[in-house]
Amino acid sequence: MQDTGDRAPTRPDDRTIRLDAGSWGWTWSADDDGRLHQVGLGPSGAGAALDVDAVWYPDAHPTWGGPDPYRPPALRITHTDGTTTTRLRFSGVERRPGPDVGDEVVRITTIDDEVDLRVTFCTRTHRASGVLEQWVEVLNDESGAVTVWDVDSIAPAFLVGPEASVVQFGGSGWADEWAWSAERLTPGTKVFDSLGGIQPHLQRSPFLLLEPNGPASETSGDTVGCSILWGGNTRFAVDVRPRSGEQARDLRLRAGANPLGAHYVLDPGRTFTSPVVAWTWADGRQELTDRFHDWTRARVLRDPDRTRPIVVNNWETTFFSFDHDRIVGLVDRSADLGADVFLLDDGWFGTSHPRDDDTAGLGDWDVDRRKLPEGLPGLVSAASERGLRFGIWVEPEMVNPRSDLFDAHPDWVIRDRRTPREHRNQLALDPLLGEVRDFEVGVVDRVLGIAPGTSYLKWDANRPVTDPGSRALPPDRQSNAWVDWVHATWEVMERVATAHPDVELMLCASGGGRTDHGTLRFFHEFWTSDNTDPVARIRMQWACGHWFPASTIAAHVTAWGGRPLPFACAVALSARFGFDLDLEALDEEGTAVCRRAVALARRTQDLVQHGRLRRLVSPVEGEDRSRAALAYLSPDGDRAVVFCFQLDEPTDPPPDLLLAGLDDDATYEVAVTDLTSRRESVRSVPGSEIRRGALGWGLTRALTARVIEVRASGTRNRSGA
Ligand code: GLA
Repeated sequence: MQDTGDRAPTRPDDRTIRLDAGSWGWTWSADDDGRLHQVGLGPSGAGAALDVDAVWYPDAHPTWGGPDPYRPPALRITHTDGTTTTRLRFSGVERRPGPDVGDEVVRITTIDDEVDLRVTFCTRTHRASGVLEQWVEVLNDESGAVTVWDVDSIAPAFLVGPEASVVQFGGSGWADEWAWSAERLTPGTKVFDSLGGIQPHLQRSPFLLLEPNGPASETSGDTVGCSILWGGNTRFAVDVRPRSGEQARDLRLRAGANPLGAHYVLDPGRTFTSPVVAWTWADGRQELTDRFHDWTRARVLRDPDRTRPIVVNNWETTFFSFDHDRIVGLVDRSADLGADVFLLDDGWFGTSHPRDDDTAGLGDWDVDRRKLPEGLPGLVSAASERGLRFGIWVEPEMVNPRSDLFDAHPDWVIRDRRTPREHRNQLALDPLLGEVRDFEVGVVDRVLGIAPGTSYLKWDANRPVTDPGSRALPPDRQSNAWVDWVHATWEVMERVATAHPDVELMLCASGGGRTDHGTLRFFHEFWTSDNTDPVARIRMQWACGHWFPASTIAAHVTAWGGRPLPFACAVALSARFGFDLDLEALDEEGTAVCRRAVALARRTQDLVQHGRLRRLVSPVEGEDRSRAALAYLSPDGDRAVVFCFQLDEPTDPPPDLLLAGLDDDATYEVAVTDLTSRRESVRSVPGSEIRRGALGWGLTRALTARVIEVRASGTRNRSGA
């Protein structure tokens, strides 16, 4: 590492650091005292030249005790001797090649001369997508422990217009994930944070759209998207200040782990590492989504090119109440429809405390022979004999007090001195205890061992942390637990992913309680929400799709909301498709609809999962929110699939369905289905007309859908159909 140590940087070139994301960037420069300033940010930010001395530019990462006493800092530490201020001086920069060709890892080191603290601002570029990954490392070189109160991972400064706005993604909790909430910013500090520790994203997803000049459209307008890669509590803070006599305002965005209750006591010689924040500055939301999808596939997702299976789950059909024959009956019907995986959900385990409801058995991973006399092998072979893979549900981090596990290890749970409170009749195990981490890894080994051949696993976590405390930590380090729990849990997940590379993993936490890019690194997909009402799902998937490719967004057809089956199927087909429906109870017409849906999935799932998402008609913004339409396009523009949804009775005239990205000069075969028994219509349309709206809306009633397959004449789809 090139570190200039105590020498102050001398030549101006040594002092200017460019973080180049390809299409945009961020430039920092040190002033004569070595303080780092932001001298450029945005589309031309990587090439910014200094008009005046660096000292006149905003601080790059303001500290408590830095030059501006009026604004909230992005770093606040109490030092060994009680000093509460930190002043950082640029010490050196190291650049080395990043994980992909043309990429870099840039480490900007600063020191506080008075207290022997070293803070390194780290960046990993991904120029192919235009996403920067950034985090901060605090090395305690002092003689004793320091307390880290706040360390945001990024703290960029913006000059914004009066219409500057944000979109946050979070609702009221369970079954209300991903609620779209947009607002214009006014002066003051606004905080968007999450709590709960284990399933924080049930209330607020760790994503923010910041639009400095007001809401961007799909195709134009500055839009800045941030994702916090953290499986715990997160925080965005936006501080807006008026400028005297000007319309423009100063805005500082801070993003990182939520420090509330989580100050970290850092021993000498140790490094505190903040979560990675991945962010981009795009022109229009479509570009922002393209970038996040590309980056997710390149840097986050396991097996990104593998098309995900059609999964049938039994949860909403049986809940805890099933037996061998009932499951085999569902497996039969799943095979008959042509699904790929049968996923057995909660309720299959517990012997002395059978898991007949959520009050008992959690932690006891032995099969309940009353329900399944042939054990899990009986179901694995029932599935494989019918050409299906078998999957199973586990919740390794949790325990019911009514369980053998709790009887044997009452001291394994997360708790402080008070009697721990139950949530969903369960307690969370403390992953800071080494034996608990081994147990959790062992749960998966054990379950896969008693169900050999299982190749899909749903990993759930159904309660938050309410009584934070760990006996693995001394009394004066209890607040460290919030950060340490995330790392310990990721260690467990990484061990599981490494030990079972061929098992596909679904990430679930009471629905979408853990939907962050950090945790997803160990999984293939997530259960988006327990709310499977297709009307709600259209809006959730719309929001979630801004950040994640559809291959990760599990969407199952259920009976929730009593919506028409063709509509429910179309909504699920627009993401990672599956069923959680009583397939045995389907009548002839219902079965036919599901068959058509599976056939359609086979024709479109490669496009849906790996294509480019194009949002055409929004169900969350604008005057008319009664409709939604989105499309997935092949990269070469020879195929597309368009989903149109009419959520309510139409009151306004239909919107134009304008699909760009195809070849104007090509002719396309257009096949439209609404999944009812009506015949599919097929016609030929020039690409130029499709761009101008020739596909047409075509829906006149609430809770109807159309799926439009568009294929350049003469091409065949992947399934060869
Ligand atoms: C959570 C999940 C559901 C289901 C139940 C089982 O709520 O989100 O999908 O697995 O647990 O108890």
